[in-house]
Amino acid sequence: MDKHKPHGGVVPEIASRCHAEVIRDVVEKAVADAGIAWSDISAVAGTRGPGLASSLLVGWSAAKGLAVSLGCPLVAVNHIEAHVHSVFLDRESPSPEEAMPLVAMTVSGGHTSIFSMTGYGKYETLARTIDDAAGEALDKAAKLLGLGYPGGPVIDRISKGTELSGEGFPDGHIKPGSAICGSLDPAMCFSFSGLKTALLRRLQKMAAEGVAMPLSDAETARIAAEFQEAVVNALMKRAEKALDITGASHLAIGGGVSLNSRLREKAEEVCSRRKVTLLLAKPKYCGDNAAMIAGLAGTGQGVRGEEAISLDVTPVWTPGTPAR
Ligand code: KG4
Ligand code: ZN
Repeated sequence: MDKHKPHGGVVPEIASRCHAEVIRDVVEKAVADAGIAWSDISAVAGTRGPGLASSLLVGWSAAKGLAVSLGCPLVAVNHIEAHVHSVFLDRESPSPEEAMPLVAMTVSGGHTSIFSMTGYGKYETLARTIDDAAGEALDKAAKLLGLGYPGGPVIDRISKGTELSGEGFPDGHIKPGSAICGSLDPAMCFSFSGLKTALLRRLQKMAAEGVAMPLSDAETARIAAEFQEAVVNALMKRAEKALDITGASHLAIGGGVSLNSRLREKAEEVCSRRKVTLLLAKPKYCGDNAAMIAGLAGTGQGVRGEEAISLDVTPVWTPGTPAR
């Protein structure tokens, strides 16, 4: 985090270099903390995709090396499917089978998508972002407001109890009929880059009108809260449309942004009004974590030896489709 902070976001090359430096120690510490012997490990699971190739390569190569040297199966896990699985990790969670039909929304610093699931592992993509992810939008807004990185948690904290009395921010909707979403309905897809531009324009206008910069804490909090509200509204509006289309009985939200208190509040409001069961991960399982990878791997099939070594990372990998 400290290395990314000066840049206001994750810099892929910095991330992969840091991963390469620490991966060995992290794995050794995990095994030591778990109080197990290397020989106790029966399978190794890793994120094969989607994501930034340079970072995926570090973890995936380590997983391959470990599996092959231990002679155990290697299980390739889709990172987005694992974020969905994070809502099932708690002992009190229903089983995935009990939660079908399900609408699953994954919101992180790198991904924002909505899926319809009629059976576990059966994903139909209903929505995705055409530009920034929701977390990325919050991080960029925080950078413009001088709040540091990662911005999502700070915006969440300073927005609490702040009155929304200002102009608000527009919903980044995509023109009907636009080809940019491919086979997906443009009304369902997300666009967050315009929001960031709207914030920049707002700040420039305020400066031109003589408002003192940097803004006061109260003014910063008000604008941050309005920005957060626009992001949360964009997410929940499409999640609700997805519930309409599918008639699903459950809504699952996973990924770092699912920690956001306003999003949780709004999701609870929507689900209780619609009599839909809301599934949220425990806070410790919301961000990128190994438990969700291991949890999902428990249901997967592994490969061994040469076959494991030959599996490359898959930076683009749509949930529910075979990795290519
Ligand atoms: O899933 P995650 O840990 O990593 C990625 O795969 O990106 O998500 C990180 C993202 C960051 O953009 C961060 O600002 C955002 O999640 N985030 C939050 C909150 N906590 C983390 N966004 C809004 N409110 C929060 N409380
Ligand atoms: Zn993630």
